[in-house]
Amino acid sequence: MVEKKLDKGLVFSGVQPTGNLHLGNYLGAIKNWVNLQKEKPCIFCIVDLHAITVAENRFKLKENTLEVAAAYISSGIDPKKSKIFIQSNVSGHSELAWILSCHTPIGWLNRMTQFKDKAGKNKEKAPLGLYSYPVLMAADILLYKSGYVPVGEDQKQHLELSRDIAQSFNRFHDVDFFPIPEPLIMGLATRVMSLKDGTKKMSKSDPSDYSRINMTDNTDDIRKKIQKAKTDSLPFPDNSENLESRPEINNLFNIFCSMSEMNRDKIIKEYSGKDFKKFKEDLFEVINSEISKVSVEMQKLLSDKGYLEDLLKVGAEEAREIAENNIREIKKIINFYNL
Ligand code: TYM
Repeated sequence: MVEKKLDKGLVFSGVQPTGNLHLGNYLGAIKNWVNLQKEKPCIFCIVDLHAITVAENRFKLKENTLEVAAAYISSGIDPKKSKIFIQSNVSGHSELAWILSCHTPIGWLNRMTQFKDKAGKNKEKAPLGLYSYPVLMAADILLYKSGYVPVGEDQKQHLELSRDIAQSFNRFHDVDFFPIPEPLIMGLATRVMSLKDGTKKMSKSDPSDYSRINMTDNTDDIRKKIQKAKTDSLPFPDNSENLESRPEINNLFNIFCSMSEMNRDKIIKEYSGKDFKKFKEDLFEVINSEISKVSVEMQKLLSDKGYLEDLLKVGAEEAREIAENNIREIKKIINFYNL
């Protein structure tokens, strides 16, 4: 959707430093950001405050934080054009999250499916932060008065909540302060599925590494994973209509379309009626030609920790400047005493 003209201010998005960045993160989010930075001022955050809502993510937080920074830059985000920084380095995120939580009815949070999925049966023991996670996400976006948020499809519900919270704040205080942010769900692979099960989202937390292509995978890894990717016993389809009933094929097809930027009908014509051998070889080629470059570049950047740290420091200083100004305005609107 939304390849429309942008005119509503900043672009903001983020990735959690939870390790195993994968093709879904790349196609659903990061790759699309590279083009957006040509059109609009962009802020790309490494959302470490979100990551700690799951206890285990704290173990490799620093390492994973640098991995996300390296992934951004290796994919083509230009730190001179776009601001790249770590969320916990700008205190305005937490401060605004509290303020916005006072503008968010609990009923809105009760509808969030991600909390239900992540908390599972242990709802009573789940941390409050996991529950209020979407309010922090709204704070990330609104802290910069961002108008556009490029994300994968799984973030749609959170984005709708951010819009509701922005409206709730504006309405309550009778101001037109926060823009109502637009989700940008772009490209042909907005929901990349597991290579082992086409009904499950490709995810960082899947215990099987064969379920995903990691952004740090080398050529051999990518080849093996594509070879092993689940298909079915039928030949390649001759039209895209019945793909919905073949989730694994649909997923591989969408990945192919997205990576090759080839027309859907042309791909179908090329492989229709054949088995998956040639299709998988070509799929490997299109993924490998892009991802292995990103992966090599990531390793290079990760070997120069100082460079990444300096860059994140500058990014945080720049982000802080915008954030502090907006927090000041927000506090005035709320009527806090500012002595
Ligand atoms: P996270 O870290 O889970 O994912 C980062 C981005 O990757 C997209 N994505 C996918 N896209 C397609 N197919 C998939 N299988 C797939 N898996 C992940 C996500 O949609 C996301 O765009 N809550 C966010 C992080 C966040 C954020 C924000 C995003 C925090 N604050 C403010 C935008 C604006 C998250 O968990 O992303």
